[in-house]
Amino acid sequence: MSKKMVESRRERLSMDFDWRFLRGEVQQAASHTHGETYMSVKAGEGYGAANPDFNDAEWRSVDLPHDWVVEGTFVPEANMNHGFLPAGVGWYRKTFVLPAEDAGKRLWLEFDGIFRNASVWLNGFLLRTHACGYTSFDVDISDVANCGGENVLALKVDASQFEGWWYEGGGIYRHVWLTKTDPLHIARWGTFVTSAIATRNGASTAELSIKTEVVNNSDHDVSCELVSDILDSEGRKVAGTSSKQTIPAGSRSEFEQQVSVDDPRLWSLEDPHLYTLQSVVKAARKNVDACETTFGVRTVWFDAASGFFLNGKPLKLKGTCNHQDHAGVGVALPDRVNEFRIERLKDMGSNAYRCAHNPPTPELLDACDRLGMLVMDENRTLGSSPEVLADLESTIRRDRNHPSVIMWSLCNEEPHQETTTGAHIVATMKRLVKKLDPTRPVTMAMNGGWGSATSKVLDVQGCNYFIDNCDNYHRQFPEHPIVGTETASAVSTRGIYQNDPARGYLSAYDVNAVPWGATAEKVWRQVTERPFVSGEFVWTGFDYRGEPTPYQWPCINSHFGIIDICGFPKDTFYYYKAWWRNEPMLHLFPHWNWPGREGQEIDVWCHGNCDQVELFLDGVSLGRKEMQHNSHLEWKVKYEPGTLLARGYRDGKEIATAQSATTGPAAGVRLCPDRLAIRADGGDVSIVAAEIIDAEGRIVAVADNEVRFRVSGDAAIIGVGNGDPSSHEPDKATRRRAFGGRCMAIVQSKRGKPGVITLEAESTALPPVRIVIEAQECELKPMVPSLPSGELIRTWRMSLVADAPPDASWAPQDFDQNTWLTVKVGRGTAGTFAKPGWVLYRAQAAAPAFDAAREKLSLRFHGIEGDAKVFVNGKSMKSTAGEGGALVAPLPDAKPREQMTVVAIVRGSGPRAGITGPVAFERTTR
Ligand code: GAL
Repeated sequence: MSKKMVESRRERLSMDFDWRFLRGEVQQAASHTHGETYMSVKAGEGYGAANPDFNDAEWRSVDLPHDWVVEGTFVPEANMNHGFLPAGVGWYRKTFVLPAEDAGKRLWLEFDGIFRNASVWLNGFLLRTHACGYTSFDVDISDVANCGGENVLALKVDASQFEGWWYEGGGIYRHVWLTKTDPLHIARWGTFVTSAIATRNGASTAELSIKTEVVNNSDHDVSCELVSDILDSEGRKVAGTSSKQTIPAGSRSEFEQQVSVDDPRLWSLEDPHLYTLQSVVKAARKNVDACETTFGVRTVWFDAASGFFLNGKPLKLKGTCNHQDHAGVGVALPDRVNEFRIERLKDMGSNAYRCAHNPPTPELLDACDRLGMLVMDENRTLGSSPEVLADLESTIRRDRNHPSVIMWSLCNEEPHQETTTGAHIVATMKRLVKKLDPTRPVTMAMNGGWGSATSKVLDVQGCNYFIDNCDNYHRQFPEHPIVGTETASAVSTRGIYQNDPARGYLSAYDVNAVPWGATAEKVWRQVTERPFVSGEFVWTGFDYRGEPTPYQWPCINSHFGIIDICGFPKDTFYYYKAWWRNEPMLHLFPHWNWPGREGQEIDVWCHGNCDQVELFLDGVSLGRKEMQHNSHLEWKVKYEPGTLLARGYRDGKEIATAQSATTGPAAGVRLCPDRLAIRADGGDVSIVAAEIIDAEGRIVAVADNEVRFRVSGDAAIIGVGNGDPSSHEPDKATRRRAFGGRCMAIVQSKRGKPGVITLEAESTALPPVRIVIEAQECELKPMVPSLPSGELIRTWRMSLVADAPPDASWAPQDFDQNTWLTVKVGRGTAGTFAKPGWVLYRAQAAAPAFDAAREKLSLRFHGIEGDAKVFVNGKSMKSTAGEGGALVAPLPDAKPREQMTVVAIVRGSGPRAGITGPVAFERTTR
């Protein structure tokens, strides 16, 4: 990002904080009478919890991202593929304030992803329904937003129908934003930068083509100028241009601009350099809108004979497929967890990531751009209906500037991959993709139908499994590039060395795979032996919930991961690390704690990229063996307690060692945070591994001690895990048993609360330990100001203006809509007097639940114009002026949930008078 964002009217505010949530459906009274029925179907009269007046005081407070399904309990009756966790329906509400200056702006909410079937109401108006749980969508609220007062956003989310066959979670599991712009603005996802690299006389130049869609939402034509500057990663301007257009009222126009960047710094895996396009829209010489787009300059190419090329250099794709799911948090990954996962995969030597089987969270792609990881971005549903095409379009528009994205995948393993109907659909989808992005190839992850009419539509043939079919295909269609879109499906459990169907474990030696797949080693060798195969995407990088293949209950978790669901590597991680990276390494396994197996032969394996490895048990050589390229070594060793040591040689020189020793009993817990300093922004996390260690500090790989975590300071433990595929312990907890000697906790900072966080871990009979994590002060993402929803008194009766002070007992007759108005404070006419005089406001309200011993209740009028007196149940209350024109009336006698009649008599002298802002019950500590 450039150092300084250009000033303009655009704002992008986080909506992640202060939501109210209810799991389940909201019961609502059925309408019976004509009046009820008539009103219930009118615009702005959202029913039940969608109505702004609905009282959500008893709902839970949550922050986003949020997955309610992972909070549940595993039950055998629930769907196996979805991890035996019940899904269902949930409701979210958020009450927030918009300033009066927002009137006339374009305002839209951006939902990065909700699983799924979301209905969105603002101020009682149903504004959008969105079915897909994986695509980002926006909701224009400009017409119904209440600028200068309170707004109530309500969402119903229905996760009871699945979109996939893996754990999908439920809820607003990605970020939500509010964007405000001038009516003249750059469209959402309205910029697209592509580059062509030209070399002249040995010097290279990137010819950039910039397309920008500018929207004019006003009722008159506007002449404007679009200034596009290119900044390098240091924020220095390296190119720029500007052009003018008149945009007709109520329409959008596209600008096409060209600039060149001399001697461009290419985006590559080793140096993922990012440029920024800074776009500024000017009208009448003022900046009215501005936005930034990061992009990279690089070339990608798939060759039918020699595979994939990045920046003209051949590169085998060493990829993994992944679902968005992690221990402790379900699908609601904090941004840092996404980044952590990409770091882990890079550490293994992986250079490519397939978003299976849906478009990812935007921050995942940001991490891939930043860290250097290539991405196969996948659409969820095969189809050419308007809805599916709209989802596809939103993905392409959203993701097409990411240099990490190298290809689009239209779908995965669809039965129609072999039919002519399928080919028609795929052709329609591809046409749309090419219109929006002509630069990237289109593929499909197919597990059959290679060579069918569908294959002919694709730029790159995707093959899931079945390498023989790749060979046949290549023989038949030697001009068509191929990539292993899904491979292996090897299954293993971290730290387990024998299949155990009863407990749902699989051996971590690379020996098990599903019938349609193969072991890690077998597939990688096949891929490397075939230059025409661009690379592979192993199923999967990380374990995920659901699909416990080959088992069922009590297994709730997949076994496909090379890394478990917490991020702890399984042994196969080191197979890949050995052959996907160049640095010398050795990994020896299994652990060497086998009491009761003395004298029995144990398989000892070694992963590493040495020419030869010699194994020793307590200093006695068990032989030196030659390591075949892309392979591993095995010994059979009679067990006796001691230390196994492997020495690895290359060209006769020792280049690496590894050992596996019999440990003593558990003597302590060691806490290993991935980072000791995090941002105090309420989103950042430290991912803390807890290891059970012996007296010498060695991990006791067979330990399953329960670890109890406690956090102090401004932080929370947002989840725990241990990677055990059959564990039914809750993710949302502060305790966890170790599995294979390890478990973990995720510690999250609080927004705007820098300071010291202490994490303590206790385990029975082991000494407690603690670590200190620093939550560092940081720039906070601007946020939409929230109001305490549910504790507001919204609906009031407002009298006509009287010439003399009325009595507090003055009340309207039922149905009197002539001399008394029904007003919603903070909205509409509540704060307007027809002439100077006195107005009486009257409301029936229920006090919230509060702890009367520890808390005091008061009424806060957030905005009141004129002299005001407050009465509760006929009694005059003392009130004092609060900041920002507020009035606060303490309620010393109030009881929790007490019904009360609240009256405010206000003397106003101008047209803006009376209750002008929200009125809320406020709880303070005694
Ligand atoms: C594939 C499928 C994946 C996963 C995998 C398990 O057929 O595309 O989503 O189910 O099998 O082996």
